[in-house]
Amino acid sequence: MKICPPRKAVFPIAGLGTRFLPATKVMPKEMLPIVDKPVLQYAVEEARDAGITDFIFITSHDKGMLEDHFDVNHELHAILEKRKRFADIKVLEATFLPAGHLIVTRQYEPLGLGHAVWCARRIIGDEPFAVLLPDDVILSKKPCLAQMMEVYAKHGGNVLATMPIPKSQSSRYGIIDVASEDSDILPMRGIVEKPTPEKAPSNLAVVGRYILQPDVFDLLEKQKCGAGGEIQLTDALATLIGMGQPFHACRFEGQRFDCGDKVGFLSANIAFALQRPDLSAPLREAILPLLKEI
Ligand code: UTP
Repeated sequence: MKICPPRKAVFPIAGLGTRFLPATKVMPKEMLPIVDKPVLQYAVEEARDAGITDFIFITSHDKGMLEDHFDVNHELHAILEKRKRFADIKVLEATFLPAGHLIVTRQYEPLGLGHAVWCARRIIGDEPFAVLLPDDVILSKKPCLAQMMEVYAKHGGNVLATMPIPKSQSSRYGIIDVASEDSDILPMRGIVEKPTPEKAPSNLAVVGRYILQPDVFDLLEKQKCGAGGEIQLTDALATLIGMGQPFHACRFEGQRFDCGDKVGFLSANIAFALQRPDLSAPLREAILPLLKEI
């Protein structure tokens, strides 16, 4: 049987971003920059590099800036052209999504991640699709979603990205249940949202990258609120596993930063800047004395 790769990706970006107030009072948290690129652009580029052609943003009111970022700014383009600033034009061109390939729909109330994904049901139709949570920014040689696409090409079904965490932190994540942990591609037996360390079935947490079958929409349609009073994606996935749908967890190569959290966001800025030939040396020079002072 030929397994067709997903071509559509959902980006749930309708959250409130309260952990970054007051910065996010007016500006969406997905526009906060890692070095000089908005958090959301990292996820869009990762998806594009993995073969995604259709980008579905689940937004909320006052988040129009996120659509504008991937549009053409004719005025700026014309000024840069006149001034022969070709390097800057190239930087801008990397932000364009082709006409007709950015689809935006709204989640009217922040009812949870599961509900945000459900808002894409009519756009996805009856195809497998990817979900990327832009808060999770991943520094890797090969994009994380591309690594997952390879697992999908081999096994089909549903694929989740996973990483080991200290068990004491399990109540911050979805935690997977696996029969054994002796490979990087793990058939899953279950998944639990934010369990206490005593109840966590493993130390493997779900990271915000998913390849899913459209069957998940039927479950999300009927689902009641779970942990935190929100409609949880994890609960729908747990039910699908129970119904016998194949799920594999992919232990990916790379370092994940939780950019929805201040320490994760600041660490990502430092890690990505240290990768840049133009910034690495001057940044080291600037931060080493600061660290010594503490
Ligand atoms: P978070 O749990 O980080 O919530 O959402 P948040 O509202 O964005 O941020 P804080 O906690 O108030 O600071 C995880 C991801 O799910 C999306 C968010 O935009 C983020 O990408 N999300 C969450 C939605 O799209 N809708 C929701 O109802 C909830």
